[in-house]
Amino acid sequence: PKKIFSGIQPTGSMHIGNYLGAVRKWVDLQEAGEDVTYCIVDMHSITLPQDPRILRLNILKMTATLLACGIDPVKSTLYVQSSVKQHTELGWILSCLTTMPRLSHLPQYKEKTKKLKDIPLGLFVYPVLQAADIMVHKATHVPVGEDQIQHIQLAQHLAKIFNYKFGTTFPQCHGMISDSCDARIKSLRNPSKKMSKSDEDQKSAIYLTDEPDQILEKIKKAVTDFTSAVTFEPETRQGVSNLIMIDSLMSGDTIEEICEDAALIDTGKYKLRVAETVIDHLNPIRSKIEEYMNNPEYLVHVLEEGRNKAAEVAERTMLEVKERVGLGAML
Ligand code: TYM
Repeated sequence: PKKIFSGIQPTGSMHIGNYLGAVRKWVDLQEAGEDVTYCIVDMHSITLPQDPRILRLNILKMTATLLACGIDPVKSTLYVQSSVKQHTELGWILSCLTTMPRLSHLPQYKEKTKKLKDIPLGLFVYPVLQAADIMVHKATHVPVGEDQIQHIQLAQHLAKIFNYKFGTTFPQCHGMISDSCDARIKSLRNPSKKMSKSDEDQKSAIYLTDEPDQILEKIKKAVTDFTSAVTFEPETRQGVSNLIMIDSLMSGDTIEEICEDAALIDTGKYKLRVAETVIDHLNPIRSKIEEYMNNPEYLVHVLEEGRNKAAEVAERTMLEVKERVGLGAML
């Protein structure tokens, strides 16, 4: 049977890259009646320094945002990583099964540590904890954006090694990554990079909580090239192609339809159209986020129920894992 798991960091709020690249798929899978578990991975967020009060608030905000996007706590298990201690427990065991060179070659690690003088150990073992997230649920399918491919591969590798050493325990997991460009929404300011929460340039990402005038401003300032025609050429015209992709994913129009409709206008005018589409699409989500944020007791309740469901699965897996590894003093 299929078992779907994925996670999102509560660092800052959700941007349209997270939304189009992952969270929308999460909702589709939920609506298709799959067995789905989604996790707010706060332990991953502290691999880089966080202000405790802001982190707490961001966890609630992420919960509100996921619900506003359509995650239904009756159909999906939604919980916070740190509330289920088996994630870190399994993470430790898995860290004993891989090597430092293997982790140091991962591109996200290289990217994130580029500007750091002292590298926290947690940032280094980050992908092992991610593998534990997936494996503690014995997940078979992991819907993520393209930037997570290597991390999924590590999870596949760790499951293989574990099964080989201790007997078949974990299924192989598969990354669910769409082959169209929505797997990688680009930064509005530097379309050769992915849209990212950690980008210092505030105009590089559109957040689900952005007000209409902020969205308009960011899209107007989006970097395009010196050609004024609106054409979809993701290799050579990354900026305008990224806008077309966002437009298509939010309006439901195909890329061909969009380019045809925009045949007589230039990229400057086209940006105004994209802004309108994005604003219309995000308006109802933003007002739902506000509604949910006015009811924090409900959000906490949802997370508690989610934790109870997730903990049951995780406890079962860890009993089996400890037995297989020979941990503890059971007879
Ligand atoms: P995070 O929090 O950075 O991102 C959450 C999801 O959004 C996707 N994503 C994007 N998709 C398309 N275009 C973009 N510009 C873009 N930016 C982000 C990510 O691929 C991801 O699917 N390490 C993970 C969280 C994690 C996890 C897990 C995921 C922890 N444990 C277990 C799956 C399974 C992360 O930092 O995602």
